[in-house]
This record gives sequence, structure tokens and C-alpha cells, in this order.
Amino acid sequence: MLNIWTEKYRPSKLSDVIGETANINRLNAYVKEKNIPHLIFAGSQGTGKTSTAIVLAMELFGDSWKDNFLELNASNDRGIDVIRDNIKNFAKIRPSNDLGFKIIFLDEADHLTGDAQAALRRTMEMFYNTTRFIFSCNYSSKIIPPIQSRCVVLRFKPVDKEGMEDRLSYIAKNENFDIDTDSLDAIYEISDGDMRKAINILQAVHSSGKITPVSIYEISGEVNKDQYKSLITMALDGNFNDARNYLDKMLIEYGLSGIDIIKGMHSSIRKEQIAPKQKLEVIMALAEAEFRIVEGGTDNIQMDALLAKLAYIGSEVN
Ligand SMILES: Nc1ncnc2c1ncn2[C@@H]1O[C@H](COP(=O)(O)OP(=O)(O)OP(=O)(O)O)[C@@H](O)[C@H]1O
Ligand SMILES: [Mg+2]
Repeated sequence: MLNIWTEKYRPSKLSDVIGETANINRLNAYVKEKNIPHLIFAGSQGTGKTSTAIVLAMELFGDSWKDNFLELNASNDRGIDVIRDNIKNFAKIRPSNDLGFKIIFLDEADHLTGDAQAALRRTMEMFYNTTRFIFSCNYSSKIIPPIQSRCVVLRFKPVDKEGMEDRLSYIAKNENFDIDTDSLDAIYEISDGDMRKAINILQAVHSSGKITPVSIYEISGEVNKDQYKSLITMALDGNFNDARNYLDKMLIEYGLSGIDIIKGMHSSIRKEQIAPKQKLEVIMALAEAEFRIVEGGTDNIQMDALLAKLAYIGSEVN
């Protein structure tokens, strides 16, 4: 059976969670006290919310953690009634630990409607003696104030470069292969701080046999920074047709929209060392094209106009 690395390398204790020192210190203090408040874990994907909830349960309950921890998904489990039934059935059974409470982890809690959350709030109160809730969400602002005010909110940041690359190197070492810094940088760049995505990419390139920045971009179906740079350079050099063909390739092969390409060009041009005046003009041209597309302009025409504008900027004698 294929070993899924995101599972194999899930943190197995609180101190394994990367980049969340303040949160982890706080949770360690709760473990010492053998009690926790209701919690909200807020943050983007793959930053360790689910993993942290699980290791917290492990540290609190030891071997019996599975009996004392229920994971529910707010968006899968068909509606609030099913969720509440699940919660009630779980909460009714006495905790099989000497702490006197169990944990219910509700993933994607921000997907619940306000009404559903209000119903949940009553359930929370009904079972407070024996149950603590951990809500996981992308945005804590989508949790209704009455629930927020009953919880301690912990924010999870995208995993930073150093933490991510250390972890990926550790995994590589443990799996007996080498990975160079450029490849690690490429994975970090693509993953956007999402550790799940980063580990999945690592596993995919490893099984493909060839680990280079290029193969990493290929496997993850992402446009490489250099490709945006080439597109801009071609257009500024006045090679309109080449640039247009190149753009089409990016649109088709990577399934990107005009807006995606504009965003990519924008982050690429900001990092480029080109004449300041030209840089400003390019940025203004990108902003204009973005605005027009958002306002309903056709991708195709606006992207043509953008490349034409860049060719014009490139041809200007300063
Ligand atoms: N901070 C972290 N430290 C160590 N590993 C992490 C961290 N964040 C994520 N991971 C790794 O990524 C995988 C996914 O993490 P997890 O399921 O905890 O993310 P999540 O924040 O719950 O994401 P989602 O919002 O998509 O549910 C884990 O198996 C783990 O290997
Ligand atoms: Mg999760």
C-alpha cells in the first residue's frame, strides 16, 4: 500500500507542530492544567489545525484519546441536525478519562450558516460539563459572535520558509533521498505556506524520480516564475506574436485565466530589476488590464491589449 506522507509525517506531539510557538505554549499550559476552554483554530489550509487538535487530544488523554475525541466535518455531514445528533450521542457517554471531559473537533465550522451556529451554541451549553469544542475554520470572523466570545481563538499562520524547508529536508532524509536548496525553494514557493501541499508535492516528485525545480513546477501544474518573466520580456522586446503564443500556451496548458496570468506577471515584475520608470508603466498596464477584465472585458482582447501595451512601453525611448 502506498504510504501517504502527509499522514506518515503528521505531528505526533505538540512540539512537532512547526511555526506556532505561541499557540503551542498556550496549549501546553492547558495540558498541564488538565483542562481546556472551547477553542477556535483559525487559519488557512494545511497549517496544522487538525494535526494540532489531534496531538492536543493525545497529550491530554494519552492512550484513550480516540475514545475521547470526535472529529466532525461541518460541510460533509449533511446539515446541522445530523451534526447535533452526532454531538449528542457522543456527549451523552461519560468521558473515559479522569479529566472529566471529551473533545469535539468541528472542522470547517465557518461553513455552517448563522442559524446552524446558533443551534450549536445551545448544544455547547447543554454539554459544557462533559464536552469541549474545538472549531476549525479559515476565518474566525465567519463564526457568530456568541460562539466566538465563548472560545479562545488561536490563529495559525502559513508555515514559514525555514520551518517548511527543515521539515521537507527531514522527510527526505528519512526516506533516503537528496533534495537541493533550489528544489526546496520551488516547493515552498508553490505551496504558499500550505504544508500539506508541500509534502504532497515532495512525495509526487520523489516518486517521479527526478527532483529539480522544473520537475516540481511541472508536477504541480504551476507556472514557473521564469515563465512570467519570459512573457514580460518577450512583450517588452516587441515580440508580440511570440508573446501571444507563449501566453496561449500558459492559458491552455495550465488552465489559467487572464486574471491568474496578470497576478503572476505582477508578482514577477515586482521582483525584477528593470528601469524604474518602465517598471511603473508595466504595473499600471497590469492594473488597467485587471480592472477591465473584472469589469467584464473579454480575457482574450484584454490580454492582447496588455501585451501590445507592454510592447509599446518597451519601444519608448527614455
Ligand atoms: N504546522 C505544522 N507543523 C507540522 N506539520 C504540519 C503543519 N501544518 C501542516 N502540517 C502537515 O500537513 C498535513 C496537513 O495538516 P492539517 O491537516 O493539520 O492542516 P489543517 O490546517 O487542518 O488544514 P485544512 O484547513 O485543510 O483542514 C499534516 O499531515 C502535517 O503533516
Ligand atoms: Mg484540517
